[in-house]
Amino acid sequence: MTDTRKPILVVDGLARAFGGVHAVEDASFSVERGSVTALIGPNGAGKTTTFNLIAGAIRPDSGTVVFDGRHLEGRPAHEVARAGMMRTFQLPRTMAAMTVLENMMLGSVDHPGESLGGTLLSRRRTKQHEKMLSERAASLLSTVGLAEKAAEYGGVLSGGQHKLLEIARLLMAEPTMVLLDEPLAGVNPSLGEKIMDLVHRVRDERGTTFLFIEHDMNTVMTRADAIVVMARGQVIATGSPSAVQQDPAVIEAYLGGSTHE
Ligand SMILES: Nc1ncnc2c1ncn2[C@@H]1O[C@H](COP(=O)(O)OP(=O)(O)O)[C@@H](O)[C@H]1O
Ligand SMILES: [Mg+2]
Repeated sequence: MTDTRKPILVVDGLARAFGGVHAVEDASFSVERGSVTALIGPNGAGKTTTFNLIAGAIRPDSGTVVFDGRHLEGRPAHEVARAGMMRTFQLPRTMAAMTVLENMMLGSVDHPGESLGGTLLSRRRTKQHEKMLSERAASLLSTVGLAEKAAEYGGVLSGGQHKLLEIARLLMAEPTMVLLDEPLAGVNPSLGEKIMDLVHRVRDERGTTFLFIEHDMNTVMTRADAIVVMARGQVIATGSPSAVQQDPAVIEAYLGGSTHE
């Protein structure tokens, strides 16, 4: 039974060093279920490493990650995905020689239980299942505004369309929570608005929780329900956009404490 009052994600004392570099050092924060939460901080603060640790791309040296009531620290990425947590990468990955619809169908392989589909389902049920998946794909493509591109090759999409496709593709697996690493990087402002509209629509319609890394303060302040601020591998503040904006530690990290940005 899911307790909707409890945070969906609780990260506690997370740490990971690379050689002598303490990329993440004792990071603790939580994310409310159904929220759109931003993870911000100067370059090199440890944001992407935190995502990699949560998503199972790398293992923590210490600390815990509890997602939906389950300990996931140190678990491999496919297990994290199966638990309902999906992530995008800083650079979208689209198969250029497959159609947009086929790219979408690839997204369903991480769906909980579906790896057994081919062996356990009868041919007729497999067909029905494929039909259901292609309908889901078509519906998600129209949600992100790519319905007209369904039959075109992935390779013809613009940079921004790749990003929309990547988000739509991971939604094929019906994740409970999505990690987006700089979804607006290199995107023009109007497409950035579209991506954030999409995030909010999916949250409103499906209750999906989003944690996104973003640099643009205007976007973060207007589009996030809550903000987690990292600096030098640690979480230095969490709270509402207005509270975080006035936090002296945050101002110091951005203006004084960092040589970046
Ligand atoms: N695989 C790695 N090997 C060595 N150093 C790394 C590695 N990944 C990240 N780092 C270092 O860890 C620190 C945090 O990096 P990162 O998590 O990418 O920060 P952010 O995403 O906040 O910009 C940086 O100093 C970075 O150079
Ligand atoms: Mg990063």
